[in-house]
Amino acid sequence: MQRIAVLTSGGDAPGMNAAIRSVVRTGIDKGFETIGVHHGYQGLVDGDFQALGPRDVGGIIQQGGTVLGSARSEEFKTPEGRRKALRELNQHAIEGLIVIGGNGSQTGAHALSEMGFPVVGVASTIDNDLYGAEITIGVDTALNIALEAIDRLKVTASSHQRAFLVEVMGRDSGYLALMSGIAGGAEAVVIPEFETPPEDLAEQIRIAYERGKAHAIVVVAEGARLNAEELAHYFKEHREELGFALRVITLGHVQRGGQPGAFDRILATRLGAKATEELAAGRSGVLCALNKGEVITLPLAEVVSHKKTLDPYLFELAGMLTK
Ligand code: F6P
Repeated sequence: MQRIAVLTSGGDAPGMNAAIRSVVRTGIDKGFETIGVHHGYQGLVDGDFQALGPRDVGGIIQQGGTVLGSARSEEFKTPEGRRKALRELNQHAIEGLIVIGGNGSQTGAHALSEMGFPVVGVASTIDNDLYGAEITIGVDTALNIALEAIDRLKVTASSHQRAFLVEVMGRDSGYLALMSGIAGGAEAVVIPEFETPPEDLAEQIRIAYERGKAHAIVVVAEGARLNAEELAHYFKEHREELGFALRVITLGHVQRGGQPGAFDRILATRLGAKATEELAAGRSGVLCALNKGEVITLPLAEVVSHKKTLDPYLFELAGMLTK
């Protein structure tokens, strides 16, 4: 194998650039020439390619986002789109592909691999919802951004004796909300994995008020059965139940745009290196991920056919800490 390609797909995650840099530079040791694909799978379909040398990836390790650009391609989801992508790869004499991304991206990687093309995935998503990966690229930085926001909100919330509903990202996963709730000392956490009826939540906020707390922070996952806006609407009609006055804030994409911290830079570098190692050894159809502190690989077929679960003890722990 002489020429490989790398792409970033789905929601960008802080650390993706460190992974691209690692692929390009560790690839050189394996005798690879690396082609960067712009805008994820859409760029693969369109043949939007750029040769990447070691200087092209200089100065990007500290940058958030992805210098290659990302996209969610509808065309690639069709068999014809995937055939077009394969044609582009063959026409450019590309013999292997590294896909940096989350669930949707690895589903695409698996589909290409099933068509016989050598593909290796790198686990990257702020949602931390990839099966087999303990923690994915971008999670740590996104969590720290959410925490910084929560710490600041506590200051103003305490000054006014208010409750804040803080909505954090995570798609269908409550991981980011739960962890930012635990680390941010939230009074309650609402996540899709566990049911919290609004009246129970009102009760928790009320208890915090009666305990004499100066504020109540409720971290709500965007994928929760009732999101922060819907909860706020419910509480508007049941205000007397809360004690505190209420405000809502949605952190949204702010969480994704940060400069990667040390953890994500190192994780991305390790996973990028593992991916080139796998292709060089003639292995494909696998995801490179961190598990129990070790870089491992597991079949993409297994990754895309399983759902990652959240440890129920952590939700219980979040509840125990709210006294
Ligand atoms: O998968 C990453 C993520 O940030 C999710 O947490 C969120 O639901 C989604 O992407 C937002 O997607 P978009 O950037 O397309 O609005």
